[in-house]
Amino acid sequence: MHNTIMSLCTLRLVFFATLTIAQTVFATSYSNPILPGFHPDPSCIRVEEWNNTYFCATSSFNAVPGVPVFASKDLQHFKQIGNVINRESQLPGLSNTNGSTSGIWAPTIRYHDGTFWVVTTLVYDHLAADDKSRWDNILFHTKNPYDESSWSDPVHFEFEGYDTSPFWDNSGKTYIVGGHAWRVQRMIKGWEMDYSTGAIIGGIHDLWAGMGGIAPEAPHLFHRDGWYYLMIAEGGTGLGHEVNFARSKDIWGPYDPDPSNPVLTAANTTNYFQTVGHADIFNDSQGNWWTVALSTRSGPEYKYYPMGRETILTTAKWEEGQFPTFTPVRGVENGPLPRINTDVSGSGYWVGSDDHLNFAPHTSLPSHYVHNRWPDPSAYVISSKERPNTLRLTPSFYNLTGPDARTGTPQTFIGRRQEHIEFTYEVNLDFTSDTDGAEAGITVFLNQGQHFDLGIVSLTDTSAKAAGYTGTGKGGSGVTQYIRLRAITANSTNEGSVDPISRTGIVALPRDARNFVKLSVKGVNHTTYEFKYSTQGSAWITIGYGDSSQVSGGFVGTILGMFATGNGHNVSDPAYFSALSYIGNDKVF
Ligand SMILES: *[C@@H]1O[C@H](CO)[C@@H](O)[C@H](O)[C@H]1NC(C)=O
Ligand SMILES: *[C@@H]1O[C@H](CO)[C@@H](O)[C@H](O)[C@H]1NC(C)=O
Ligand SMILES: *[C@@H]1O[C@H](CO)[C@@H](O)[C@H](O)[C@H]1NC(C)=O
Ligand SMILES: *[C@@H]1O[C@H](CO)[C@@H](O)[C@H](O)[C@H]1NC(C)=O
Ligand SMILES: *[C@@H]1O[C@H](CO)[C@@H](O)[C@H](O)[C@H]1NC(C)=O
Ligand SMILES: *[C@@H]1O[C@H](CO)[C@@H](O)[C@H](O)[C@H]1NC(C)=O
Ligand SMILES: *[C@@H]1O[C@H](CO)[C@@H](O)[C@H](O)[C@H]1NC(C)=O
Ligand SMILES: *[C@@H]1O[C@H](CO)[C@@H](O)[C@H](O)[C@H]1NC(C)=O
Repeated sequence: MHNTIMSLCTLRLVFFATLTIAQTVFATSYSNPILPGFHPDPSCIRVEEWNNTYFCATSSFNAVPGVPVFASKDLQHFKQIGNVINRESQLPGLSNTNGSTSGIWAPTIRYHDGTFWVVTTLVYDHLAADDKSRWDNILFHTKNPYDESSWSDPVHFEFEGYDTSPFWDNSGKTYIVGGHAWRVQRMIKGWEMDYSTGAIIGGIHDLWAGMGGIAPEAPHLFHRDGWYYLMIAEGGTGLGHEVNFARSKDIWGPYDPDPSNPVLTAANTTNYFQTVGHADIFNDSQGNWWTVALSTRSGPEYKYYPMGRETILTTAKWEEGQFPTFTPVRGVENGPLPRINTDVSGSGYWVGSDDHLNFAPHTSLPSHYVHNRWPDPSAYVISSKERPNTLRLTPSFYNLTGPDARTGTPQTFIGRRQEHIEFTYEVNLDFTSDTDGAEAGITVFLNQGQHFDLGIVSLTDTSAKAAGYTGTGKGGSGVTQYIRLRAITANSTNEGSVDPISRTGIVALPRDARNFVKLSVKGVNHTTYEFKYSTQGSAWITIGYGDSSQVSGGFVGTILGMFATGNGHNVSDPAYFSALSYIGNDKVF
């Protein structure tokens, strides 16, 4: 999947309006998050040999392709240059994960001696009783991150835990550190490992139990001035999240904690940027230190945060022989930023940009577009012979609510991350079906149990009545097509039965028309989505509002997408989508 479709770079600078001016000067101020939207658990490096480029990777859970990789030369503009997990043969198990908190957790990206490495974990079901089968730890490598097809197949290794991270000592020996499954034992573990086979050498060592918080995790090991430094997260990934340090002269410990722990946290503050933790640290070519971490723009109320855990950047200091210190995270920060530079190789998507997709012949879906688990590629056709300049989706048997661990056929769903609180997402849809249950439309999708769906659905009067849609049918034995807005929320059944939207958000379409509609969702403010449609070129009509707290929670963030389903029926009628746009309002909050 490569980007051949126009994507406009939205500048995220506070002080400079145009690139032309900005290229010649240093910015002193930048805004967080640097990777807005569902980009949790960041790991970043600077690679001197690659023109001092910064490379980052983030968690993707069930989103496929998985583990997006970003490149930047100025720490302000980040281009998604591909995905580590980009073909089903690399990791077929990503089809069989259970629940929304499963899938790919916490990659660490590192560069050593000409090769890029990513170590991560495929989690089948993090609550399963069987510890052996729920974690699949994996290691990928490439010599060219700008060519995503060059990422290797994974080497699998056995560890009862997650958040695994690689480390090379001065002699070139290779190690892994990881967070042990904390329900069993709270402990950061480490071991020497052969990266070519995944064979553990000399057993697994207990390194540090942390400061006593729940879930010591996200370890990274650094060697500096004769000390081994362990950077970890503790407190869980919610409001109590924090970053802690410890160090030892011996890689196997004992590790002495930094008396200043927690060194970085938003816990017990009223900051808008909460849940700060799961950090990584690196320096620039001038010797300034930087850290990235995840954070949630929720305030301490922690109620409205549909984009979930995003990536922030803050400054650090790391004096010789000392533990590093960190600047608390803010929306606008000052720092000794590198010179503005958007000369980043490769095709790809500038994070925070708008999309305008016309699905022209011979184009493909950009690399920032994702499915939920591995897709059936034949269900997605750009510019089919019968309908150029559209994306043809073939409805899947399963709807977005789907079953838990899916062993059946994939869902038809393709979308991009919501990256702005205020945005407009619009698309045209042409969909007609005589099959009861056939549905196609757009969705604000957090996970299989929390999503807003707006689309065209075909229902017999019997089905409409069974679903509680009274007074809507047209009579007769056939189906009626409706515009329907529905909320599937954590508190509802699959039918969204507790949500008022599902009772009221339904409008019958004219019976004779070929059903061509425009669909829109707007992020009005941080609490509210507005859903609109227009038929046959009429003015926009608001069908309902969604409360963003209904799509907040868990480990993931919202994806704005298109779907087509038979809701448990086999439907072959295609849905044609066209003229897709996503326009974000890049206001700094
Ligand atoms: C470094 O940048 C130069 C100039 O843009 C380019 O020609 C070269 O390929 C780059 N090298 C690497 C390793 O990225
Ligand atoms: C936040 O407050 C709670 C309750 O007083 C306390 O247990 C916790 O240690 C505090 N965390 C930090 C990072 O100050
Ligand atoms: C950056 O950190 C690395 C690792 O500690 C060190 O070897 C290097 O000298 C530092 N670079 C600068 C410019 O300070
Ligand atoms: C999925 O996980 C839940 C919670 O652990 C469990 O109850 C359920 O049986 C699992 N489903 C499958 C198919 O493994
Ligand atoms: C958000 O927008 C909705 C719809 O316009 C409005 O009712 C609500 O008061 C707004 N909320 C905030 C916090 O501004
Ligand atoms: C679900 O219901 C509980 C209890 O009524 C409430 O506290 C919680 O906020 C609800 N969650 C959502 C996502 O609506
Ligand atoms: C989703 O599909 C299942 C069948 O796989 C069906 O039982 C359920 O009613 C559907 N849910 C909705 C909201 O249509
Ligand atoms: C749907 O189609 C699949 C594949 O052709 C078939 O195996 C399945 O039995 C069908 N299901 C229903 C409910 O028609």
